[in-house]
Amino acid sequence: MTAFGMGAACPSPCTAAALSFPVGQLHRVAATPSSEPGEVDETKRNVLKLLVAAGVVGAAGGGLVAGSLQYAQPPTVGLSSFPRVQLLDLDGTPLTVTKAEKEYNAETGDVLTFNYPLRNEPNFLLNVAPASGSSSGATNVVNGVGSQKSIVAFSAICQHLGCPAPAISYYPAGICPQSPGGKSFYIHCTCHGSTYDVTNGAANLTGPAVLPLPQVILEWDQGDDTLYAVNMVGPPVNGHLDTLTGDYGVGTSSQLTRQQPVRLCNFS
Ligand code: FES
Repeated sequence: MTAFGMGAACPSPCTAAALSFPVGQLHRVAATPSSEPGEVDETKRNVLKLLVAAGVVGAAGGGLVAGSLQYAQPPTVGLSSFPRVQLLDLDGTPLTVTKAEKEYNAETGDVLTFNYPLRNEPNFLLNVAPASGSSSGATNVVNGVGSQKSIVAFSAICQHLGCPAPAISYYPAGICPQSPGGKSFYIHCTCHGSTYDVTNGAANLTGPAVLPLPQVILEWDQGDDTLYAVNMVGPPVNGHLDTLTGDYGVGTSSQLTRQQPVRLCNFS
């Protein structure tokens, strides 16, 4: 009897090796020659190299994307609290209450602004006391400082849609025939007509704005007669999530700037 069973013929070519295992036993046959022990399989090594390279490129790409996203976000800058900032006059010297009371009053047409507490937050500085011999003006106003409690400061950014000075401006007594809320001097915005009461914390006299202007709290240092901005009250400055966020602080002092006002007396 042969290995192919009784009567079976050995296939051609028939070799002894082909018949060296029992019939019915499975044998694994390599499709391609395998590496000898100790040899490096170049194909596997190249695949590994590609995977490592792809991982490195992916990690680097991920880092770049994360870095790009970081800078796609606007940086959050601002202050953690309201600073004490000295006010400087137009010429850069410390502003004194004596000078402010002498040079400015409710009838002064000058529109003076200073930035506080951030560089992009302008504010009006006003002395609403009456000129000598005039009855147009007010003393002992809300948060007023100075010998007559008449020096005040308010945000110069309208609380309606954010028109800044000089589109929003101080209207001195007598410049327009209108007297909203019975007031002959006020802050008025030419953009859409909002008017604010400078004797009462910049409360609304006419809309469309429904919020008062934020007020800067001033401090009079009677030792050397100088003026400081120390806080703000009221709603956030328009255009800012909060008054302390959205730009860098002004530093330890802030200088007055004279604005060329835009005044229109065509409101009702
Ligand atoms: S922005 Fe001032 S009234 Fe509209």
